[in-house]
Amino acid sequence: MIRFQDVGLHYGLGGRAGPEILRDLSFVIPSGGFRWLLGPSGAGKSSLLRLIYLAVRPSRGALSILGTEITTAPRRALPRLRRRIGVVFQDFRLLRHLSAFDNVALPLRLAGRPEGQLRADVGEMLRWVGLAQKSDSLPEALSGGEQQRVAIARAVIGRPDLLLADEPTGNLDEVQAERLMALLTEMNRLGTTVVIATHNDALVARYPAHALELDQGWLVADG
Ligand SMILES: Nc1ncnc2c1ncn2[C@@H]1O[C@H](COP(=O)(O)OP(=O)(O)OP(=O)(O)O)[C@@H](O)[C@H]1O
Ligand SMILES: [Mg+2]
Repeated sequence: MIRFQDVGLHYGLGGRAGPEILRDLSFVIPSGGFRWLLGPSGAGKSSLLRLIYLAVRPSRGALSILGTEITTAPRRALPRLRRRIGVVFQDFRLLRHLSAFDNVALPLRLAGRPEGQLRADVGEMLRWVGLAQKSDSLPEALSGGEQQRVAIARAVIGRPDLLLADEPTGNLDEVQAERLMALLTEMNRLGTTVVIATHNDALVARYPAHALELDQGWLVADG
């Protein structure tokens, strides 16, 4: 379902090609799989996730996401594909002018879900992440951990086929991190493919699973 074949990535620097950030990556993540994405700061974890959620295109190599060959697919095919992917961004990316409720409701509204149907789902999701009381708050009135939980709720509410989480416990306490893992492992059990980039070694030790490990853009472990 996710297949990288000799994928390389460099970011453009003022029109000139920058150094290669990801090099010769080849791996497969099967449908319904779970992967930790590990490696030191700057190793390329967020960049790898960006390739998977189609925010950047590979500079070389072949990339297949949810069964679609990205390098040859017509551009118009990509937005639909993107809507099947839920992302918890490392920097949250909540919409500042929308309440917690409206941020979480966004994917459902974009999918055309009627207002009457989505209110209960969004309310339940906010309760689940412990933010029922903060439903009307704007992001600027929320703590870092609260914002992270809104970002998590928004990523999972549409039941994506693929869920990517970039350091999703960075601002959570241990109890909240455990709740998050319970949610993600349950989604994975129900068939969602899950990829989690993290530095949280204690969490990885508590949930041993297949890991992709990057070092300076190279894939140094896949197992
Ligand atoms: N938009 C960009 N333009 C140029 N270089 C970038 C860009 N984004 C990231 N980089 C560089 O790519 C490398 C990998 O960055 P990336 O954010 O993927 O690392 P990471 O493993 O997610 O690190 P962290 O654990 O700190 O989040 C770094 O050297 C970074 O400086
Ligand atoms: Mg990162």
